Amino acid sequence: MRTHVVDHPLVAHKLTVLRDEGTDSPTFRRLADELVTLLAYEATRDVRVEPMDIRTPVTTTTGVRLSSPKPLVVPILRAGLGMLDGMTRLLPTAEVGFLGMVRDEGTLLASTYATRLPDDLAGRQCYVLDPMLATGGTLAAAVRLLADRGAGPVTCIALLAAPEGITRMQHELDGITGRDGSPLDVRVVVAALDERLNEQGYIVPGLGDAGDRLYGTVS
Ligand code: URA
Repeated sequence: MRTHVVDHPLVAHKLTVLRDEGTDSPTFRRLADELVTLLAYEATRDVRVEPMDIRTPVTTTTGVRLSSPKPLVVPILRAGLGMLDGMTRLLPTAEVGFLGMVRDEGTLLASTYATRLPDDLAGRQCYVLDPMLATGGTLAAAVRLLADRGAGPVTCIALLAAPEGITRMQHELDGITGRDGSPLDVRVVVAALDERLNEQGYIVPGLGDAGDRLYGTVS
C-alpha cells in the first residue's frame, strides 16, 4: 500500500481552518469540499484514459478521455458524503456507489449496514472517500469488500490519517490480490498524517468528529 501526503500550502491552510474548533458547520462543509477537490487532483493522477481524436478550430489532434468502465467513487456513509461533491467535480462522469459503515465506539470495530455497489467490479478503478483514517478498520474493510467484487486499483482519500491506521491497513491488506492474482494496488491520499490516536480512537491533533462537524450532532 502506498501513502501519499499532499504537501501544498493551500491544502495546509484549508486543513488549519477545518481543525479550528471555532469553524462552524457551513464553513467546514465548504472547506472540506474544496480540500477534497485538491486531494482528488493528486488522487486521480493514475486514472485510466484512452486516446481520442478531436478537431480544434485549427487542425485535428489527439487528446484523451476517461476509459471504460468509468471509475467508481464510493463515499462511506455518513461523513464520506461530505466529500462526494468535491470528488465528482473533478470526475463528473464517474459512477457513485455507497457503503454504510459504522464504528462501534467501544470496540472501535467497523461493521457494514448498507451496500449499494455493482456486484461485478472487475477492473473498476475505485475511489473510496472517508474523511478520517483513524484505526484503519473501516477503510481496510471497505477495500476488502471492493476487492472481493474484483475492483482495482483502489485509492482511498481521507482528510487526515493516524499512523496507527496506516500501519493497520498495511497489515490487513498485505497479501490481498486483485482478480488476476497480482497484488491489489491500494493507495491512500491524505492532507496530513497526524501524531496518534487517543484512547477514544480520535485522531490527535485531528479535527474532532468529522460527521458531527459536517452535519451537526444527531442524538
Ligand atoms: N472519526 C472522526 O470523525 N474523528 C476522529 O478523530 C476519528 C474517527
